Amino acid sequence: MKHIKAVIQPDKLSDVREALDAAGCSGGIIISEVMGHGNQKGIVQAWRGEKYQVDLLPKVMIDLVIRDEDLETVKKIIIDSARVGEFGDGKIFIYNVESVIRIRTGEEDDDAL
Ligand SMILES: Nc1ncnc2c1ncn2[C@@H]1O[C@H](COP(=O)(O)OP(=O)(O)OP(=O)(O)O)[C@@H](O)[C@H]1O
Ligand SMILES: [Mg+2]
Repeated sequence: MKHIKAVIQPDKLSDVREALDAAGCSGGIIISEVMGHGNQKGIVQAWRGEKYQVDLLPKVMIDLVIRDEDLETVKKIIIDSARVGEFGDGKIFIYNVESVIRIRTGEEDDDAL
């Protein structure tokens, strides 16, 4: 199993969720509102002639745990639906998952997804 953690622009969340649904890849999901910055370390904004650095920008973080065989499909869906082609489009982190347990039934791993 793989854990996909995708940090995306908040206004892309509905597109990503719809694309996951349309592809039948919509099991459990965790959505978090987060703040962060990537390589550009935020942006410089101007207000009334003053320039100031906004170093943390709002992002949405999506956590999904999926079957190994769904990895490439889910990766592509997220990239295709979150990408504008500009700085700050986001990033996807992928981790191996050791174990998943559904508390209600005791099912484990793929059966618990
Ligand atoms: N190396 C990292 N470690 C942890 N979080 C990161 C890392 N890089 C990016 N992030 C998170 O992902 C968000 C989006 O990053 P972003 O898309 O700006 O990455 P980038 O590497 O700067 O790429 P780009 O040059 O396209 O902007 C950041 O706001 C931050 O929350
Ligand atoms: Mg960036």
